[in-house]
Amino acid sequence: MYPLLRLLLLLFPILLPAVAWALSPPRFPGSHPHARLGANGLGDYAYETRYFRQRLDHFSFPGVEEEEDDYAFFQQRYLVGRGGGWAGPGGPIFFYCGNEGDIAWFAANSGLVWEAAPRFAALVIFAEHRYYGESMPFGSKAKAYNNSKSLAYLTAEQALADFAVLLTDFKRKLSAEGSPVVLFGGSYGGMLAAWMRLKYPHIAVGALASSAPILQFEDIVPSTIFYDLVSDDFKRESISCFQTIKDSWKALDDQGNGQDAYSYLAMVDYPIPSEFLMPLPANPIKEVCRRIDSQPEGTSILERIYAGVNVYYNYTGTVGCFDLNDDPHGMGGWDWQNIAKVLEKFGSNIIFFNGLLDPWSGGGVLKNISESLIAIVAPLGAHHIDLRPATPEDPDWLVSLRESELKIISGWLSDYYGAQGALFQPVALKDPAAR
Ligand SMILES: *[C@@H]1O[C@H](CO)[C@@H](O)[C@H](O)[C@H]1NC(C)=O
Ligand SMILES: *[C@@H]1O[C@H](CO)[C@@H](O)[C@H](O)[C@H]1NC(C)=O
Ligand SMILES: *[C@@H]1O[C@H](CO)[C@@H](O)[C@H](O)[C@H]1NC(C)=O
Repeated sequence: MYPLLRLLLLLFPILLPAVAWALSPPRFPGSHPHARLGANGLGDYAYETRYFRQRLDHFSFPGVEEEEDDYAFFQQRYLVGRGGGWAGPGGPIFFYCGNEGDIAWFAANSGLVWEAAPRFAALVIFAEHRYYGESMPFGSKAKAYNNSKSLAYLTAEQALADFAVLLTDFKRKLSAEGSPVVLFGGSYGGMLAAWMRLKYPHIAVGALASSAPILQFEDIVPSTIFYDLVSDDFKRESISCFQTIKDSWKALDDQGNGQDAYSYLAMVDYPIPSEFLMPLPANPIKEVCRRIDSQPEGTSILERIYAGVNVYYNYTGTVGCFDLNDDPHGMGGWDWQNIAKVLEKFGSNIIFFNGLLDPWSGGGVLKNISESLIAIVAPLGAHHIDLRPATPEDPDWLVSLRESELKIISGWLSDYYGAQGALFQPVALKDPAAR
């Protein structure tokens, strides 16, 4: 019985999402330990890493003492594209609102921003979110996350103010005050992009908010909807697979608080191989279910599940031991973010992208709200798939969806320049050589 016991212990943390169903949804992928740069040979974009001396508290009046206090400031990391295609001062700036993780990782995985920039002769900036990656207040992560007092400055409002101050300073130094800014973001970063456009409309002409579950936090949708959608993704592939997974939860009727491989799989159920969270095959849920269903007659539930989750934890076949330990970026910090109230009223020029395979879409904006608050919905899309680097295997619906997004952005820029009496022409929107 010893091996079975071992297996049980191994699987405990990943097979108990049922318990968590009623609790909280899993972390966004940004907090994932297996984040890798340059996945699939993509994401190798040329940029310069810079740091900005950022005020820790944007909402108090700084005193003279504070000016000298190191803890009143922190170094915010940001990446500036070296594409060389920028039109210069006055030309557009594409600004990615960093979410809960290392900004270099988001930069590597948000190919759309880089790939679209040359067509608009835009400059690319990726800004890191405070308390993540290298942008730590108080000099170290241990100090930043020490207690509620040190965490008090980890709020979405402070992060938005960081972005606004950084952008304003950046533009002023380049005499580029006239440059229109387009915001980008995925997941929580998508929420930040949307909120930033709402809160600081004078700073950006529009925002592409990809897979931003902004309604999740308003109690507008039932809290179980995330997991209902996860189940749907598995049911869609195979009822017996879904049943096996469900039975495994019953078989392991105990407490546990590990991560949720199934939820992550649903988020990254892309139609092409990816390495966003883990090296995964195309349509990973299909693959998990194929393995669960194809075990010989008489295989126990746990052995089936083990074969299935191998796709998630060990697709490359090189993993000696499953790494179930997860929290490199301290997503515990998430709870500290006071986010819901910013959404009280809507503005203009925001694209909300959602893929319906993505469990987070349950909290996303799925309907057009106005002429310029546009919902783009991909029935077969996963978590912010639109932002991912383009590949030759991309299905047609994905290619045309990205074109629609860029066309809307092009419209914002035309309006901006038009109002200034200038003409804006995107650089050969269809020209593949522009990539
Ligand atoms: C954490 O805070 C406590 C006081 O609450 C302090 O004694 C301790 O030195 C702090 N630790 C770090 C790493 O800053
Ligand atoms: C990962 O896959 C390889 C090849 O299939 C296998 O030899 C190895 O035991 C697997 N690792 C785990 C932890 O199951
Ligand atoms: C919202 O409107 C745009 C056209 O402005 C359209 O392309 C899109 O499909 C609409 N979205 C939904 C969800 O109906």
